Amino acid sequence: MTTRLLRPTDREDIAQRLLRSSAKASYDPLTEIDWDTPVNPDVYAIPPHRISLYGTQLWDQLSEAQRKELSRQEVASTASVGIWFESILMQMLIRHAYDRDPTTQHVQYSYTEIADECRHSVMFARFIAAMGAPHYRLDPVSRFLGRVFKATSNGPLTFSAALFVEELLDQMQREMMADDQIEPLARAVARLHVTEEARHMRYAREELIRDWPQRGALTRAYSRISLALVAARAADSLISPDCYARVGLDPKQARRAARRNPHWRASKIWFARQAVETFTAAGLMSGPAQYIWRAAGLIGHSA
Ligand SMILES: [Fe+2]
Ligand SMILES: [Fe+2]
Repeated sequence: MTTRLLRPTDREDIAQRLLRSSAKASYDPLTEIDWDTPVNPDVYAIPPHRISLYGTQLWDQLSEAQRKELSRQEVASTASVGIWFESILMQMLIRHAYDRDPTTQHVQYSYTEIADECRHSVMFARFIAAMGAPHYRLDPVSRFLGRVFKATSNGPLTFSAALFVEELLDQMQREMMADDQIEPLARAVARLHVTEEARHMRYAREELIRDWPQRGALTRAYSRISLALVAARAADSLISPDCYARVGLDPKQARRAARRNPHWRASKIWFARQAVETFTAAGLMSGPAQYIWRAAGLIGHSA
């Protein structure tokens, strides 16, 4: 796997394959997904062991109905982060395409991916409402950092940050779509997203591995640190503390419990593991950046 990852395929050839696949398997979530069947309050929206408080004392205090409600709020929070990041990504891809030749296949694929992300954000927004949740807005610092990042990221940062968030959601959603105990709407959203994101991850991986060796030592050092900071911020923002208030818990106390929760810490490592593997193979994890990854709890033993 490592060898393949470090050798990019021909840029136009892979872009052409991705465009062909997009023409065959792209989905409109508004018509593909059944939005009319009411959400069943008696099932979980994510597997219980992926809920941030699973296994804690606070978890023991919650009734089964509250736990299921928390699963809906947490999946909605993750979808809110998904929309936040897709907005950042769409702008980064537009900037990527801006200076390049639109008659090339790889720039056309960039436009195609933007179109996919537009549909995904509408899908996530509908999904949040269907879960009976609010839009969980990120904190002002994350929003500010996102604003700076989407306006200034270079090639390696655009595609590594994209890959990090896409791999994170992919891990999470593959598990959801395979679990028939989970709310059908959550599984349908996960399935559609996983299908289209497979192409995005391939594109991001190829662009990253092609670009990275051409960068100087200074840009690489800066990109490694910036990527680690983005990954730390994105992973820490997945669950809004306001989710806890929706099931009657104190948000600050519950957030503290989640941050200390070994189950949740292991889950975050598991969500990040594919991205970490790619970045390690490509040389994006070395130097001081690895301390940020470790401090953020994104490398270690997963579950
Ligand atoms: Fe997406
Ligand atoms: Fe994507």
